[in-house]
Amino acid sequence: MEFIKLTLEEELAIVTIDRPKSLNALNSQVYQEIIATLGQIKDMDEIKVVILTGSGDKAFAAGADIAQMVHEDAMAGRRLSGLCHDAANLLEGMRQVTIAAVNGFALGGGCELTLACDIRIAAENARFALPEVTLGIIPGGGGTQRLSRIIGVGRAKELIFTGDQIDAQEAYRMGLANHVVPKEELMDTCRALGKKIASRASYAVFLAKTAVNSSLEIDLKNGAEREKDLLGLAFATHDKREGMEAFLARRAPDFKDF
Ligand code: HXC
Repeated sequence: MEFIKLTLEEELAIVTIDRPKSLNALNSQVYQEIIATLGQIKDMDEIKVVILTGSGDKAFAAGADIAQMVHEDAMAGRRLSGLCHDAANLLEGMRQVTIAAVNGFALGGGCELTLACDIRIAAENARFALPEVTLGIIPGGGGTQRLSRIIGVGRAKELIFTGDQIDAQEAYRMGLANHVVPKEELMDTCRALGKKIASRASYAVFLAKTAVNSSLEIDLKNGAEREKDLLGLAFATHDKREGMEAFLARRAPDFKDF
């Protein structure tokens, strides 16, 4: 891998977009490497949480690579959009919980990667935007679909139609960032949250992620049915028996993740 660094720390996988000279701009190769790396992590049973970040102290990712896109035709644009979506869909659907550690600019395709993560933690210098209309295009990595689901249609339309950047505090007020922390505390905050989530019954966390994601796609009645089915599945696990027996015996649970 040329542009993606993967670090494994016990139950955490840290994925770093590493192209700092272009503020981690996402060309096709970067997207392909993100997809390959997430595909690898997806099958690592010991990994419970993925933290996605950018290298350097200025950018998470400043968007899709404009130097690449400037020469591309409609079909190439659509292919690039396909790569953006594949990466986002992997982040959203994978068994592990995904946390975006937003260490600076998260623009365009970079912002869209954060939207596909389960949780966003922003450093104080983080800036979010979908500036595509300033370049004559529209968001192509799920931005028109996911932003409104997170912050509401009105605010999403304003951000997408203006291309304006918002800072970390504004992102927090909108519910886009779960927390804002000093830059130097960003990774440790993400690690601590990741470890806490990893200490829970991880198959139950995955079932909960599946259920919450369903709520964005299906109506309430069918979502409630899906919740019942997933809860039934949770009742069939070792960890359900262990979690409840441990509670009653006043001891710590020993989860086996099934
Ligand atoms: C290619 C980029 C880039 C990008 C920055 N760079 N963003 N290269 N694609 N998206 C490069 C610059 O060309 C420059 O390279 C170096 O990174 C540093 O950037 P500067 O502009 O000099 O830094 P600064 O003045 O601090 O401004 C930072 C910035 C600005 C505000 C983030 O770079 C910027 O506006 N970038 C573009 C952001 C954007 O429009 N993103 C959306 C892309 S569209 P050199 O070689 O000159 O040092 C998109 C669509 C997704 O994401 C869907 C597609 C299907």
